[in-house]
Amino acid sequence: LQPKLLKGKRVLITAGPTFERIDAVRGITNTSSGKMGYAIARAAYEAGAEVVLVSGETALATPIGARRINVQSAQQMLAAVEAEVAASDIFIGVAAVADYYVLNPSEQKIKKDAHILTLELAPNPDILAGVSSRPNPPFCVGFAAESENLLEYAEAKRLRKKLPLLVANLVQNAFGADTNEVVLLDDHGETRLHSAPKIDIARKLMAHIARLYPSVKTD
Ligand code: PMT
Repeated sequence: LQPKLLKGKRVLITAGPTFERIDAVRGITNTSSGKMGYAIARAAYEAGAEVVLVSGETALATPIGARRINVQSAQQMLAAVEAEVAASDIFIGVAAVADYYVLNPSEQKIKKDAHILTLELAPNPDILAGVSSRPNPPFCVGFAAESENLLEYAEAKRLRKKLPLLVANLVQNAFGADTNEVVLLDDHGETRLHSAPKIDIARKLMAHIARLYPSVKTD
């Protein structure tokens, strides 16, 4: 990647898991480590972009050059994205957002007794779909993790969410891993990025975005 291909562009990235509170000490989350999103933040900065990283809870250090906004729940992630998106040229949704939140989380730790405990779950907003359906959206990039029919579901997701580019994880257990293998889906077809460290995948992804970005913006 030519170092300053994205100079002057502002890239907004979501990364890591969301955490949906059940009570004072428990919650619903997933095993996203943030590694993929943080690698993309680093690669975007290397490409000359101004980088804003909206991150769920991770054990990772903030990538050099990124402005990091810490969030916990999907609602908080949405609020942070909404505050930043209007000034962004490119949005990349890498976070593994919980599909549901707990309707009535308890302020106190729920005590164990002999009864069955039922949690009422309500659907979370789709952050990426919200961004891509804005009147003048940034160039939107989504990720897809599917357990079956990956490319078919991924392309359907790309068209449904009106995304110029979607990254489909070929690796079933990309969550937490140091490497990834992906297929990039766009209007021109499919581009496979073979198994490599997440930073290498991230750099190739940024190069791909830099190639597509001007044509999409002037369409
Ligand atoms: O963090 P790592 O351990 O490095 O792992 C990386 C990863 C596997 C988490 C990452 O590569 C990845 O695939 N992220 C998206 C995982 C996912 O659960 O995707 P999805 O099919 O639920 O969502 C599709 C897209 O919509 C994603 O871009 C997601 O960020 C976005 N989305 C989904 C739901 C929601 N409520 N809001 C969203 O913005």
